[in-house]
Amino acid sequence: MTYQTIEAQRLTPTLGAIIRGIDLTKTLSNAQVEDLHAAIADHQVIFFRDQRLDPDSLRRLGRHFGELQAHALKGMEGYPEVRRLHADASSKHVSGEEWHTDMSCIPVPPMGSILYMHTLPPLGGDTVFASMYSAYDTLSEHMKKYLEGLTATHDGKLAFGRFDPTGNYPVSTHPVIRTHPVTKKKVLFVNRGFTSHINDVPKDESDAILAYLFKHCENAYFQVRFCWEQHSVAFWDNRCTQHLAIWDYFPNVRSGYRVQIEGTAEAA
Ligand code: SIN
Repeated sequence: MTYQTIEAQRLTPTLGAIIRGIDLTKTLSNAQVEDLHAAIADHQVIFFRDQRLDPDSLRRLGRHFGELQAHALKGMEGYPEVRRLHADASSKHVSGEEWHTDMSCIPVPPMGSILYMHTLPPLGGDTVFASMYSAYDTLSEHMKKYLEGLTATHDGKLAFGRFDPTGNYPVSTHPVIRTHPVTKKKVLFVNRGFTSHINDVPKDESDAILAYLFKHCENAYFQVRFCWEQHSVAFWDNRCTQHLAIWDYFPNVRSGYRVQIEGTAEAA
């Protein structure tokens, strides 16, 4: 885990690293992009401090890693691929208040997301990330065999219906166990935010298995908790992690921007 252009400081034995020695506000060189690809494969989620991004530079940064995906909820004026994340005293909900994998309700969920925060509450507002490699690896062999070959339905209404119950949201089916297209490692791919049921089994069986799997995915041993500072950035691999935004700062303001990078169809 050494890189040509950056330094990485691991935050837990499982996932997460702080990356230093790079200015994300500038156009990146091929060597820098290659190193960041390698770092994300190694650490699942990478963090940066003191990066003064704006919607333009965040979009430029995201495009180094692939096409950007317009979100199911509205993008920013003039920047359809950049979503403003904002919570204040008038918020009834915040994005990511439940454990989830971004947009698992679409046929090809994003490979990753980049989130930049410019305004933070005096305390709180951390984001917790969990490794779905660890979630898979620690299942019993019996459970792995049971889940192999099963698929589950992921329904956008579960996550977004609370913001707008009248919206039309995507619904997709994915294998419960997927293989990461880069590392070739197996991941457990169900999440509380979007997964409504396991297909082709009775409802009570699906409910019981999902309740077990959701709890299993949320094991503290699979996690890293990121404490934001103003102008921090988090870049997560959405194919092998879940995350949770801790909303413990109401009525204070927390605000930033996010882009999502298109995934590839072979992540099955
Ligand atoms: C999200 O993308 O789910 C939001 C994460 C955060 O606000 O920390």
